[in-house]
Amino acid sequence: MPAEGKTIENADLLKAFQERIDRDEKIEPKDWMPDAYRQTLIRQISQHAHSEVIGMLPEGNWIPRAPSLRRKAALIAKVQDEAGHGLYLYSAAETLGIDRETLYQQLLAGKAKYSSIFNYPTLTWADIGAVGWLVDGAAIMNQVMLTRTSYGPYARAMVRICKEESFHQRQGYEILLTLVRGSEEQKAMAQDALDRWWWPSLMMFGPNDAESVHSAQSMAWRIKRKSNDELRQQFVDATVPQAEVLGLQIPDADLKWNEDRGHYDFGEIDWNEFWSVVHGNGPCNRERMAAYQDAHANGAWVREAAMAYAEKRQMRKNETTGKIDLQVA
Ligand SMILES: [Fe+2]
Ligand SMILES: [Fe+2]
Repeated sequence: MPAEGKTIENADLLKAFQERIDRDEKIEPKDWMPDAYRQTLIRQISQHAHSEVIGMLPEGNWIPRAPSLRRKAALIAKVQDEAGHGLYLYSAAETLGIDRETLYQQLLAGKAKYSSIFNYPTLTWADIGAVGWLVDGAAIMNQVMLTRTSYGPYARAMVRICKEESFHQRQGYEILLTLVRGSEEQKAMAQDALDRWWWPSLMMFGPNDAESVHSAQSMAWRIKRKSNDELRQQFVDATVPQAEVLGLQIPDADLKWNEDRGHYDFGEIDWNEFWSVVHGNGPCNRERMAAYQDAHANGAWVREAAMAYAEKRQMRKNETTGKIDLQVA
């Protein structure tokens, strides 16, 4: 029977696919893949792309007020890097058969998610240091893992992105290092930024493994290679000594080195806050969406001009090619 035949074929394809994953082969755009694998990647890569783009907003907020020309140039370059990351990632998502315009529309309509961390405000200059150190630092933990993800275009985009992220992390740390060596007020500003950004940064790794809906399948497909809790632990272990060098206090009374585990123990995350921000009620969710929608509407003329220019170039190219063809003929 045809229906049964189809099931057998799918089972064979699925088995062969999983074997390729288990052999650590990269899956490429034209290869056969289960639809759920494709949909998972579209969701994950587009969320990642949206996060890069929305992530420009809290930092862009400080470009006009950066304390020196050097800081301003570095911050502009960083924000521009994030735009570039968004573009690599939209391109990677497009290789899965979805077009960029659809992805933009999903974000504009508020249907697509982006990282909740960008729904927190950047209140002082020290926040720009804390975002670079902690937010880019947490992103690196996740992204270094993703350089080995099973989908080829995503893995390759991550290699380029990670090189820039580690620079972002260092520039953020250097901003804080400068502040803690400054006046009492500057040191207090750095501490206040750490107090506000620490817990949201830990939330960036997502729910605990037991609560994480997509984790097990993503691990089996090697889209992810480490669990949310493993990555979070890795981040805490790497970051605590950096806070000590800064002479800042991490706002967690339960944070202490556990000799037996060889890791830091840390306190419980406020999951009510996490879900409240995910569901649209963080301090800046509405502001971020409004800024993005405004930028999209105000940029319409730029997109139209670029399209008209591309068409004109194509027409000229066709005319030239036509002439050459005639000469050859
Ligand atoms: Fe980025
Ligand atoms: Fe970054």
